[in-house]
Amino acid sequence: MPPQVDLLRHPPRLPLIAPSILSADFARMGDECRGVLDMGADLLHLDVMDGHFVPNLTMGPALCASLRAALPDAYLDVHLMVNDPAKFVVPFARAGANCFTFHVEVMPSEGVGALAEQIRGTGMEVGLAINPPTPVDRIRPHLSMPDMVLVMSVNPGFSGQSFIAETLDKTRAIRAGLRPDQRLQMDGGISPSNAAAVRAAGCDVLVSASALFGQPVEKRRDIIRGLAGDGR
Ligand code: DX5
Ligand code: ZN
Repeated sequence: MPPQVDLLRHPPRLPLIAPSILSADFARMGDECRGVLDMGADLLHLDVMDGHFVPNLTMGPALCASLRAALPDAYLDVHLMVNDPAKFVVPFARAGANCFTFHVEVMPSEGVGALAEQIRGTGMEVGLAINPPTPVDRIRPHLSMPDMVLVMSVNPGFSGQSFIAETLDKTRAIRAGLRPDQRLQMDGGISPSNAAAVRAAGCDVLVSASALFGQPVEKRRDIIRGLAGDGR
């Protein structure tokens, strides 16, 4: 079965739970991913880092292609924490990614729309991300464009950091400027203990790495339910 390629625009349920595979066991990646999808997660979040935009190196199109082959029906959401996202649009489209998110901080304002069109032209959905220190005004002119806005709730680079609660104000402000068919994702430091506040601020796609993959397999279904706030 192919993935639902318009999952963000036409979600069958909300919120969507997006495990970030950055905290999974890389030697058992297929099993780790299959496990969380079977337990009620909606998509997989792949954190791509270049060692320049953020001080870490993680994964690239090859891992995305392997996951696409192993999990043909999974929706793959790639989060590009890189200085030059345009260079990777075609490689990730060919690797089977379904959504391509880039950071507003790395683009001149006049380049954001063109990159979004390039992404959409490959058949992927479009995400636009904003870091904690970046003012909402930087993203406001572009809010009508993406299928999803990603509000970072940690400074990107590593999983396992503490949630920055002040970013909830930014989430509320951005939600007020989005249409109902646009998704709002938060990423960083999210666990069942703060998920209700994250959802209440208007977020409908919750990313979680360490709070989920850092726990034993038998606890993960309850963690996914705690993130979602429903009985899935
Ligand atoms: C942060 C990444 C996140 C991260 C989340 O740089 O973009 O997706 O892996 O990890 P946790 O949930 O552990 O904060
Ligand atoms: Zn991420």
